[in-house]
Formats: sequence, C-alpha cells, structure tokens
Amino acid sequence: MNIELIRAQFPILKQMVHGYPLAYLDNAATTQKPQVVIDALQNYYLSQNANVHRGAYYLSELATALYEKSRVAVQQFIHAAHTHECIFVRGVTEGINLVANGFAREILHPGDEILVSQIEHHANIVPWQLACHYTNAKLQVIPCNDRGELDIEAYKQLLNTKTKLVAITHVSNALGTINPIQEMIALAHHNNTPVLIDGAQAISHLQVNVQALDCDFYTFSAHKMYGPLGIGILYGKSAWLEKLPPFEGGGEMIKSVTFGKTLYNDLPYKFEAGTMPIAEIISLSAAIHFINEVGYQNILSHEKALLDYALEKLATVEDLRFIGIAKQRAPVISFLLGDIHPHDVGTVLDHAGIAVRTGKHCAEPTMDRFNVNATVRASFAIYNTVDEIDRLVVALAHVNKVFKR
Ligand code: ALA
Repeated sequence: MNIELIRAQFPILKQMVHGYPLAYLDNAATTQKPQVVIDALQNYYLSQNANVHRGAYYLSELATALYEKSRVAVQQFIHAAHTHECIFVRGVTEGINLVANGFAREILHPGDEILVSQIEHHANIVPWQLACHYTNAKLQVIPCNDRGELDIEAYKQLLNTKTKLVAITHVSNALGTINPIQEMIALAHHNNTPVLIDGAQAISHLQVNVQALDCDFYTFSAHKMYGPLGIGILYGKSAWLEKLPPFEGGGEMIKSVTFGKTLYNDLPYKFEAGTMPIAEIISLSAAIHFINEVGYQNILSHEKALLDYALEKLATVEDLRFIGIAKQRAPVISFLLGDIHPHDVGTVLDHAGIAVRTGKHCAEPTMDRFNVNATVRASFAIYNTVDEIDRLVVALAHVNKVFKR
C-alpha cells in the first residue's frame, strides 16, 4: 500500500502550519476527509439538493434514492441483517441518548441497573445518569486495571437480574484500549441483558460485523471514519428498535396525525424526525467507499505498524509516561511528559506543526482512575507516517528542553 497515494487524496494534509507541514495526530477527535467525500458534499448542493421522501419530482426522487443507497452502504458496511436497523442520527452522542431516553421511558424501573465501564466517554455516561435520575435506576461501573483493561471477573460479578443494559465502548478514546466486546456481549446475553456498543473510536480501525458480535445496539459517527460531520448511525436489532418509543416527534416519523392520535412510522423512519442532514448522509457512502477501497486489512497493518513504532520511539523520550498500556489497543496513545502541563506540551507541538489533543478527552472518570488531570493524546489514521512520529519524538525532546531549562 502506498501511503503517499492515500495522503494525496486528503487536500488538507498538504498545508503548512507555523511553517511546518501539518502532522495531524488528532484522529480520535475527528479524521480528515478525502477528496471523494468533499466532492460528494459539493455534488449534492450542485446537482442533487432536494428534500427526501417528500417530493414527486426528479430532484427529490434522486436525493431520496441516494439517501437510501447510503443506508444500504451502511448496512453492508457493518453487516446488519436489515437496512431498517440502521438509523441515521447526529452522531454517537445522539445514538446513545436515543436509546437511553427510550430505556428511561419504557424499560427501566426503580432499582434496575445500567452497567457502564470506568473508561467510557462522557457520551456513554451522562445519558445513563439522566435515565437513572428519571427512573431511580442505578448506574454500576465495571472497573479497569492499571493497564487500562476492563476487569472481566468484576464484570461477571456485576451482572445480575437487575442489570437492564450493558453500555460499553468498543475502544477507549482516552487510552486506546480495545475491549473484549464479543466475550462481554456473550456474558451479558447469558444474563438476558442487552448490550449497546459505543463504536465511535473503533469504526475507522476495526471491521465491525454487528451480526457476528450479536450486539443489540452499535453506534458510530461518520466524522471519525473519514466522513462528514453531523451524521452517525445507530444500529439496533429490529425487536429492540420496535420496542423503544420515538426520540423526537415531527415530520417523517409519523404515518398519520390527528389531534386525538398519532400513528408512528415504521422503522427506520420512526427515529428520523424532521429534515435530516441529507448531504452528509449521502456523502457518508463515499467515506465507506474510501475505507472499502483501502481495505481493513491494510488499515489494520499500517496502523499497527505506526502504533508499535510510536510506542517504541516515545518510550525513549525522557520523562515520558504512558497512561494506559492495554495489550489490545487501537492507535491511540495517551501520555504525560514529566510534570509539564499537557496544554503546554500541546502548544509547543503545535508550533512544530503537530496537532494532538490535550485535556481530559471527555473522559474525566478515566483521568480520575489514573490520578491525572489531563493527558496528551496522539491518535493515528491511515494517512499518518513514520516520519510524523519521528517529528513528534523530536518535538517532545524540544518540549523537555523548553520547560526544564
Ligand atoms: N470524542 C472525541 C475525542 O475523543 C471528540 O477526542
């Protein structure tokens, strides 16, 4: 695989930042977009723009066909059994809120339990806290060890007849840990408990087969997989999606409306109220096409090589301490440099043209677990190079010099 050819498809990577070529290492926050996705967005507004499912004219029918074609692309991409199990949402945050809201309204009773892990993003904590608040259900937490791996024995102990849902991340955004979700789903099902997987950080790195995983819900965002902002997917097994009430009311999610009674639409439209981000949904299929063209095998092997190389080189930087050293991990590395504040590290790196994320990564409980306020996080994608990692290592040595002078 020729990385230069892949990089050439991402116009933004050609730019200079503070006099240096951009080294974009904040892919866990959002990935850059290939030309095919940018073109798809532009083409929509140039020649396809109309509302979908609402017009009996050429443009509306064209937009509708492309919109539904994108749903088919998603279905095939995650190996869902049916297209109607793939709901377009704003992103993972909305996907989780949709399920949490439905559970609060239809499933949870006082004393019931929701099980999350200690290394969740806030988006997979706060919606469940809200659901628990409204129902007097209880949030339980699967602990993690010092490596940043979930304690599966503790998980087994926590599962019980009151556990109404397990909601866990596939990959930790702060540590990069890949959770053993297949095993965890099987354990939950053995306990008759459904499972929601937050796939935000997994979808661009790992091939996902929702039927093989047998998860009940799986949600991911397009912008973390080379696609546009503002759109994501909530996959749910039909039986669960039928059971949950609509999240938002409005046009499109209904079959008929009178002041006395409203009949809701069938899946997936029951959950797609109002005008959706049509251009972004159509362009998502271009991102899926891009990933399929590169191929997950190539993505896996390139990113694994980057991860191994980075871990080896970063370990040579004076006073660098990794936060999270799970055996199974995605190309996400959190670290601290002595007692230099991560924001200071990030600022000096930025002046060398290197973009990383610094802070709590929307995962404050993860930071608490490791007794740190914040970390520096470098996260890689298919277009990153060994040369960029070398630059990161040199720049970190410079940070040490600047702050220890
Ligand atoms: N959840 C995103 C991140 O981890 C924004 O950076």
